[in-house]
Amino acid sequence: MKAHTRVYGTGFVTGEVCVPNERFTKVCDTTDEWIRERSGIQQRYFVREGTATSDLAVDASRKALDDAGWKAEELDYIVVATMTPDYYFPGVGSLVQAKLGLPPIPCLDIRQQCSGFVYGLQVCDALIRAGAAKKLLFIGAEIHSGFMPFSKHGWDVLNGDSDESVTPEEREWNSRFRHLTVLFGDAAGALCVGPTDNPDRGVLGFALHSDGKDATSLYVPSAGFAYRPYFSEEHIREGRYVPFMEGRNVFKMAVTKMPEAIHEVLEKTGLTLDDVKLLIPHQANLRISEGVQKQLKLPDERIYNNIHRYGNTTAATIPIGYDECRKSGKVKQGDLVAFAGLGAGFHWGAALMRE
Ligand code: UT7
Repeated sequence: MKAHTRVYGTGFVTGEVCVPNERFTKVCDTTDEWIRERSGIQQRYFVREGTATSDLAVDASRKALDDAGWKAEELDYIVVATMTPDYYFPGVGSLVQAKLGLPPIPCLDIRQQCSGFVYGLQVCDALIRAGAAKKLLFIGAEIHSGFMPFSKHGWDVLNGDSDESVTPEEREWNSRFRHLTVLFGDAAGALCVGPTDNPDRGVLGFALHSDGKDATSLYVPSAGFAYRPYFSEEHIREGRYVPFMEGRNVFKMAVTKMPEAIHEVLEKTGLTLDDVKLLIPHQANLRISEGVQKQLKLPDERIYNNIHRYGNTTAATIPIGYDECRKSGKVKQGDLVAFAGLGAGFHWGAALMRE
């Protein structure tokens, strides 16, 4: 398989406030021990109110541009993977273009949730192969704090700005969503992507799948045009703006489908698992990564996890992991890197890239 597309620079940012597990115990019935044992998460970052997904996306992009040595004005395409855009519409792509002060270049949003990176990378590769882009900015950006059911005071407690307990009623309300709220964080990761003349270095292949039959195992039962009006007081009263998740079902799908997709992309590209230097999986739960690792029989040094520091940042997790691996030297030129993710939809898949 020949590479046509390469990554020239990476960067990421998180929300401004680091929230350790302990703070969640002040707003809902949970423990640091439960969160660590069931998910591996120790802390996550949330933005302060007023920071939007496009702001994180722009900050991550500036870092990636610096890393690549590209000027923003050289960009000719923007692709953003996000399920948490600033507004219902428009998407984040054109907001990033305007905030970077760029001329009217094409901008595209995709919505593949936790598999936004693997799907988005295929879109970028296809645009480059088609000659539609030469200096492309690819961003995975998410702000989950807008999904959270906390009051203003609840946020003050979580942010460490107040020690005054939440009311028992508020605690009870927040606890209804505890299986979900403790898992997510806010962040953005960006990549500068362009064509390459070296067929041995860059994106080598993909194995992507979607199946909507279990879509309601993980979805937002509100703010959509299946409802009239698409958002209502009743939705707010019932907490339907918070994602609904059948955690066990999602867990099972993730540990089954990600290894399948990795085997499939290796077969397609004529490579084997032994060729893979490092797997950077989507970070939804450390136990999911461990399940994938066990099935693939990978030693610890060939899989990268950082969920303990950031939680699940959906489309941003793989770009963050990849940036950390490139910059720490864990991934070096010539190394074969595999990426894999599964998320709401359901969408899942894997990608292979030679650094
Ligand atoms: O990227 C895609 C997005 N999502 C995922 O990938 C999520 C995949 N699923 C998971 O990660 C796990 O299923 C969870 C972390 C969500 C849950 O872990 P689990 O081991 O499947 O726990 P569970 O839902 O079966 O709940 C076990 C117990 C329940 O109590 P009872 O019924 O046994 O008394 C829950 O009420 O844990 C309770 N629980 C909690 N306890 C303390 C649920 N959330 C919490 C919490 N703190 N935050």
